[in-house]
Amino acid sequence: MIPLTSVLVSLLSFWTLPTTARLTVDTVPPLAAEGSVAVFNILEKEGLIIGYGWFRGNRIDQRAAIEAYQIINNSHTPGPSHTGRETIKPNGSLVIQSVKKQDEGTYTVITVKADLTNVSASGQLQVYSLLQQPSIQVSDPMVREKENKVVMTCITNEMDITVKWIFNKQQLKSAKNVFLSEDSKNLTIDPIKKENAGDYQCEISNIGTSNRSETFELKVKDSQFKLTTGTIAAIIIGILVGLAVTVALMYFLFSNKL
Ligand SMILES: *[C@@H]1O[C@H](CO)[C@@H](O)[C@H](O)[C@H]1NC(C)=O
Ligand SMILES: *[C@@H]1O[C@H](CO)[C@@H](O)[C@H](O)[C@H]1NC(C)=O
Ligand SMILES: *[C@@H]1O[C@H](CO)[C@@H](O)[C@H](O)[C@H]1NC(C)=O
Ligand SMILES: *[C@@H]1O[C@H](CO)[C@@H](O)[C@H](O)[C@H]1NC(C)=O
Ligand SMILES: *[C@@H]1O[C@H](CO)[C@@H](O)[C@H](O)[C@H]1NC(C)=O
Repeated sequence: MIPLTSVLVSLLSFWTLPTTARLTVDTVPPLAAEGSVAVFNILEKEGLIIGYGWFRGNRIDQRAAIEAYQIINNSHTPGPSHTGRETIKPNGSLVIQSVKKQDEGTYTVITVKADLTNVSASGQLQVYSLLQQPSIQVSDPMVREKENKVVMTCITNEMDITVKWIFNKQQLKSAKNVFLSEDSKNLTIDPIKKENAGDYQCEISNIGTSNRSETFELKVKDSQFKLTTGTIAAIIIGILVGLAVTVALMYFLFSNKL
C-alpha cells in the first residue's frame, strides 16, 4: 500500500551506464514528502536473478552499501549505509520508510544473476518538507493612518522557500506604490490608495508543496485621503458662492427696508 502523501515523491530514473543488458530504476511515486514512503522499483530485469544490492550514490561502493538481499534463503545483509528504515523486497525494490531530507540523492542497485554476471542502474530521490502555515504581521495601524502607508510582513520559520503575495485570491500585481523586499517577505504599500483595499495573504512554497496565511483585510477609509485640488477648488467655489448669495440677500433685504 502506498500512502497518499507519497504521491509527491520524485525519483528521476535514467538509463544505466552502457552494459549488455538494460535496467532502469523507477520510483513510485516520484516526489516524496518528508515522512512518507519511497519505493525504488527495478524495471526491465532479464535473466535469472539470485540477489540484489542497493547503494547510496551512483556507484557500487561497499562503504555506501545499504543492504544486500539473497533470494535463495531470503537473507538480508545490512551495510554501513543502512539507517534502519530501508528494506529490499523479494522483487528487488528498495523501500524507504518515513523519508528524511537527508535521504535525498542518488541510489544504485546491482542485480546479480545465476551466471554471476551483474547489471546496475541508478535513480534519484527528491524529498520536500511539509510547510507550516505562515502568518501576516502588519505595521502599527495608528502609524499606518498617520503616514498613509502600510508594511505587511510574511512570518515563517521555514527554509528554502519562495514567498508570494495573494491579493483578493489572485497573485498580487506590481504597481508604483507597491514594493517587495528582496526576499519578498515584506510588502510595503506607500501611499495607500483606494484600489489597495482588499484581502491579502502570503504564500510560501518549496519544490513539493505550499501553504497560505490567513487573510488580512486592508481597509481603506476615504477620510484618510488628502483632498485633491479639484475638491479644494469646489469647496472654495462653494463657500464663495454661498457668501455671494448671502451678501446679495442681505443687500436685497436691507435695500427693501429703505
Ligand atoms: C544465505 O545463503 C548464502 C549462500 O548461498 C550464505 O552465504 C548466507 O549466509 C545465507 N544466509 C542465511 C541468513 O542463511
Ligand atoms: C515490488 O514489491 C513491492 C512491495 O511488495 C511493491 O510495492 C512494488 O510495486 C513491486 N515492484 C514491482 C516492479 O513489481
Ligand atoms: C559485476 O560484474 C563485473 C564484470 O562484468 C565485475 O567486474 C564486478 O566485480 C561485478 N560486481 C559485483 C559487485 O559482483
Ligand atoms: C498548512 O499549515 C497548517 C498548519 O501549520 C497545516 O495544518 C496544513 O496541513 C498545511 N497545509 C499544507 C497544504 O501543507
Ligand atoms: C521587513 O520588515 C521588518 C519589520 O518592519 C523589518 O524588521 C525587516 O528588517 C524588514 N526586512 C526587509 C528585508 O526589508
